[in-house]
Amino acid sequence: MKVLITGGAGFIGSTVASACDEAGITPVILDSLVTGQRKFGRGRHFYEGDIADGTVLDKIFGEHPDITAVVHCAALIVVPDSVLDPVRYYEANVAKSLELVQHLLRNGCSRLLFSSTGSFYQPGVDGSVNEDSAIAPESPYARTKAVCEGMFADIAAGTPLRVVSLRYFNPIGADPQLRTGLQTRYPTHALGKLIEAHETGEPFQVTGTDYATRDGSGIRDYIHVWDLASAHVTALTAFDQIVGHATSLAINLGTGTGTTVRELVAAFNSVVEEPVTTVDAPRRPGDVIGAFSRSDRAKQLLDWEPRYTVADGIADSLRWSAVRDSVLAD
Ligand SMILES: NC(=O)c1ccc[n+]([C@@H]2O[C@H](COP(=O)([O-])OP(=O)(O)OC[C@H]3O[C@@H](n4cnc5c(N)ncnc54)[C@H](O)[C@@H]3O)[C@@H](O)[C@H]2O)c1
Repeated sequence: MKVLITGGAGFIGSTVASACDEAGITPVILDSLVTGQRKFGRGRHFYEGDIADGTVLDKIFGEHPDITAVVHCAALIVVPDSVLDPVRYYEANVAKSLELVQHLLRNGCSRLLFSSTGSFYQPGVDGSVNEDSAIAPESPYARTKAVCEGMFADIAAGTPLRVVSLRYFNPIGADPQLRTGLQTRYPTHALGKLIEAHETGEPFQVTGTDYATRDGSGIRDYIHVWDLASAHVTALTAFDQIVGHATSLAINLGTGTGTTVRELVAAFNSVVEEPVTTVDAPRRPGDVIGAFSRSDRAKQLLDWEPRYTVADGIADSLRWSAVRDSVLAD
């Protein structure tokens, strides 16, 4: 089996490519390198180009007519940038995805596995969500994902396209073999701030301690990137059975319980020698309880559950952080 991975030189796409390799699926990478690393495409079928460029797509399918599905990871993903430059985000994530789908259909490729997000849900009182929860994107970035899902569903209803949207929550960790990982130095979520606090010795601020969670701190759904990648392999292998008679569907990839900020700190301190201290602080403007997936659709349809713990994810993030500069410089 051979699959095209757009954005396959990025954090998640490159990890999916490694998981595919290990499962005997041949990945073909298309990446413009707008943020991705050429290094992550090395040793693979790699095409430098844009997902909207029909000539490149025709060339890829001409040279690899046995590609049976596409994993569509390519996107711009920085939430604050999307607020500052929404036009660029809608162009990159929505308009170019529309062009990509046209190129795929023209080349007879109708299976699309889409990298979507759990960040566009409106969380319930306790922060839990399932695939039917209300969608209320809080940033142009998150809305581009919601718009894409709707656009793909409409197209799938009237064409041979079939779409499975995998809604990721908060990916952490790195390829356990440290072949790839985050390009940026720190994750943007609380784990990044924890790593920073660990490096500087400053206390970590628990902002908001009066939420309706187990311990009052906010909640997120940290998921090891290798677990995410494994879910892609399963979804690719069983794509037609998963879609069944539907034309498109969405699946949350989360833990089922989430991790509070205090639990994240405890997990962090379980893997480092010098523990990070914390200080309680009030909620900051705009802070929200967060969200975690309570859905078991991934278990039912993909027979998938996370295998890695949050502590594993933190340990792999730290291991990647230690080798990141040398791997990327190599
Ligand atoms: N990282 C997260 O926290 C997270 C959470 C939920 C969903 N996602 C989604 O997962 C996907 C991958 O995210 P990531 O964290 O690996 O980001 P990333 O920035 O590491 O990877 C994105 C890749 O897409 C490439 N790319 C962007 N626009 C392109 C274009 N027009 N043509 C070709 N290549 C292009 C970039 O060069 C990069 O290699 C994205 O779609 C993102 O929205 C990420």
